[in-house]
Amino acid sequence: MKSHYKNIEQKLFNRKSENALRELKVNNELIDFCSNDYLGFASEPEIHIQNGIELFGSTGSRLISGNHKITEEVEVYLASYYKAESSLIFNSGYNANLGLFSSLPQRGDTIIYDELIHASIRDGIRLSNANSFSFKHNDLVALEEKIKNAKGQIWIAVESVYSMDGDEAPLKELTQLCKNNDVALIVDEAHACGIFGEKGEGLIVEYGLENDVFARVVTFGKAFGAHGAVVLGSKLLRNYLINYSRAFIYTTALPLPSILIMKKAHTFLENNLDRINKLKELIKYFKESTFNFQLLTFNSNSAIQCVVVPGNDEVKTLAEKVQSRGFDVRPILSPTVPKGEERLRICLHSFNTKEQIAELIKVIQD
Ligand SMILES: Cc1ncc(COP(=O)(O)O)c(C=O)c1O
Repeated sequence: MKSHYKNIEQKLFNRKSENALRELKVNNELIDFCSNDYLGFASEPEIHIQNGIELFGSTGSRLISGNHKITEEVEVYLASYYKAESSLIFNSGYNANLGLFSSLPQRGDTIIYDELIHASIRDGIRLSNANSFSFKHNDLVALEEKIKNAKGQIWIAVESVYSMDGDEAPLKELTQLCKNNDVALIVDEAHACGIFGEKGEGLIVEYGLENDVFARVVTFGKAFGAHGAVVLGSKLLRNYLINYSRAFIYTTALPLPSILIMKKAHTFLENNLDRINKLKELIKYFKESTFNFQLLTFNSNSAIQCVVVPGNDEVKTLAEKVQSRGFDVRPILSPTVPKGEERLRICLHSFNTKEQIAELIKVIQD
C-alpha cells in the first residue's frame, strides 16, 4: 500500500505547488458574499420547521419502500409551478445531471455541451456511451458547425445561468437552432430558478420556452435554501428515467422532511416575491458601481458577479485581504476556471445591503 499513498501524496503536492490546494473551511461570521443562498431561505424558519410528520427516515429507494404519496404530490406541484408536463425528484442536482446524461443519449448519439458546463453534466456525459464534444462558450456559430458534423441523435447541454461566470445562455436562439436541426436541448437552471421568471420559475419560463426544451434541471440547494433537485419534462421522460436512470434507481430516497421543504420553499417564495425584487435591485447597484470603477467583470444579470484577477497567487491574496475586512468572498482558482481567468466570485443576496456592496468594492479597489 506504500506506493498507493505515495501517488496520492504526490498529486496533493502538485496541487499545493500550483497554489490550488482545496481545503475545507467551517462557516464563519463574515458578511455572506459567497453562498448560493440568494434569497436568504436557508435560515427561514417558516420553510424549515417541520410540523405533523411522523416519518423522518426514508427507508429505501423510491422503487422499493422510499416512495410516498406526499413525494408524488410534491412532484405534481413542482411540475405545475414550473409549467412542465411532469417532474421527477432527484437527491441532488449532481445526481439529476448524472442520471439524465448517463441514461438518455445512446451509443452512436452525440452530446454537444457548452465548454463552461457544470462538472455534474460532464460526469454524466462520461458515464454515457455517446460521443461528445464541447463548443465555445455561448457561440452559436461554433455550435452549428458541431451539429453539422455530429452523428446519431443529437443532445445539447447548456446552463441558463452559468455557475462560474453568471452570464446567460442565448436561450431563444438556441431553442430555434435546436428546432431547425431536430436536436434535444437540456437546460440546467440551477442558478436561474428563484431569481428569474415572475415567481422564480427560471429563464425558460420567463421566455416562454417550456415547450421547446427536452428537459430542465432545477436544484433546490441554491435560491430555495433547501436540498435536492427536480427534472422537468414529459411524462414519457419521467417514466424513462424511473426505468433507466441509475442515479435515480440505485440510491436511498430523500426523507420526507426534505421533500416537504421543497414545496414549502416554493409557497414561501410565492408569498415573498419582494425578495426577488430586492436581489435584482442589488444586482443592478453592483453592476453600476463596478462599471464606474471599471473592474473587469463578466456580462451577468444574475446573482453571480465576478471580478477577474489573473493568477492563483494574486486572487488568493486579494480574497484574504477582503476577508480580513469582514467580507466572505472566495477566490475561484484554476483549474476550476481557465488559467488567466481566476476571479473573485461574488454572490449577491436579498439580505445584503447597498452599503455593504459599496464597502466591498472599495476594499477590492484599494
Ligand atoms: C449548474 C449546476 N448544476 C448542478 C449543480 C449541482 O447541484 P447540487 O448542489 O444540488 O448537487 C450545481 C451546484 O454546484 C450547479 O452549479
